[in-house]
Amino acid sequence: MAEIHIMANNLCSSLPWVLFFVFMIDAALGVRKDSSSCDGPSGSGSLALAQAPTSTDKGTCKSRVEIYGYECEEHHVATKDGYILSIQRIPNGRSATTQRARKKPVLLQHGVFMDGITWLLNSPHESLGYILADKGYDVWISNSRGTKYSLQHATLSPEDPAYWEWSWDELVAFDLPATFEYVYRHTGHQKLHYVGHSLGTLMALASFCEHHLLHMVRSAALISPIAYMNQVRSPIARGVAEAFTAEIYYRLGIYEFNPLGEAARKLLSEICRIPDVNCYDIITSFTGENCCLDTSSIEIFLRHEPQPTATKNIIHLSQMIRRGTITKYDYGNSYENKKHYGQVVPPAYNLSSVPNDLPLFLTYGGRDYLSVVGDVKHLLQRLKLHDKTKLKVEYLPNYAHADFVMAVNASQLVYDPLIAFFKLH
Ligand SMILES: *[C@@H]1O[C@H](CO)[C@@H](O)[C@H](O)[C@H]1NC(C)=O
Ligand SMILES: *[C@@H]1O[C@H](CO)[C@@H](O)[C@H](O)[C@H]1NC(C)=O
Repeated sequence: MAEIHIMANNLCSSLPWVLFFVFMIDAALGVRKDSSSCDGPSGSGSLALAQAPTSTDKGTCKSRVEIYGYECEEHHVATKDGYILSIQRIPNGRSATTQRARKKPVLLQHGVFMDGITWLLNSPHESLGYILADKGYDVWISNSRGTKYSLQHATLSPEDPAYWEWSWDELVAFDLPATFEYVYRHTGHQKLHYVGHSLGTLMALASFCEHHLLHMVRSAALISPIAYMNQVRSPIARGVAEAFTAEIYYRLGIYEFNPLGEAARKLLSEICRIPDVNCYDIITSFTGENCCLDTSSIEIFLRHEPQPTATKNIIHLSQMIRRGTITKYDYGNSYENKKHYGQVVPPAYNLSSVPNDLPLFLTYGGRDYLSVVGDVKHLLQRLKLHDKTKLKVEYLPNYAHADFVMAVNASQLVYDPLIAFFKLH
């Protein structure tokens, strides 16, 4: 036992590097493991997790929503390019008194390496998914292509390289419209409130600046926004961008970028249960030093996340980190760019073209390594002509990237002002 302790301590002190290695190895193996097999009787390595009260493999409704006494519906939506996405709906709060009233729909969009669990990591009075349901909203939670519950496709399997042939441009062009239209149609054509965290904010900004989806949106909340990325401080994110890691994977034929395979995640989750081990460190090297996470939400996080994405998506983000631009994916040669875009350089997303009267709530943190203060200021500069009454900005000096969805007091500091903003629109 003592040995395990020492090993674990050493491991955790160099955790960013261990993590880096683990995902190099996982990616290099390029093996997509069927996650459900890990709960099978043969999985001796899953001993401890088998005792966990909830299974992660029955879907998000079962594992994170119904256990707290909420109704929850699993929906599926097909994108124009064939992906089949899962969406969870929490139609009512726990006290069903507000049932049947005509509720305003809210769509929650997670960021990269995450899925819809993002909004359900803490207890019902701490996490946004439940809080919105209890406040009388009709809550819809999306899951981007390539994440655990959105792996299906009309003709492709995740084993096929073509399955992973996308970046966030396709999330903007296909996933977001399919999801918006689905929710809009199923709620009697009501305009929806949108909440994005991390890459979920860029997806919305990119779409709105091209004047898409606007007839379906009531207001948008941008939590820990990602737009300009050249000041990103995360050593892992910078390392991957500057070493051209994703570009190298792509050349090697590794099209799925899996930051942490199932086995590694289980190992980490075990290590993190050992007293004395500070699992803040793992998350810190990616997100910045979060002020206010509690260990139980980290455990839930590690049981469900991080999720894979396309290597091409990471290439696209790496281009943004290196260049500080916001353009479509750069194929890296004028022939390919010309073929896809009709011009030799990829077209820019002009964020100043987000309509000035679109209600926007934006909140960012002083310790965030991904949504860095300087980059957010740059974004706000592009929105400087926005109607003052339609743009509300909150700054939380102690918050880092994960605090916005996991902090014990995100409810007071982030969600209360966000819901107050929604009420005005
Ligand atoms: C948020 O919670 C943390 C941890 O409990 C605490 O240290 C911090 O002061 C709280 N922040 C605010 C502004 O209340
Ligand atoms: C971006 O959009 C704004 C507002 O529509 C416009 O004034 C500006 O010229 C555009 N910038 C570029 C580079 O096209």
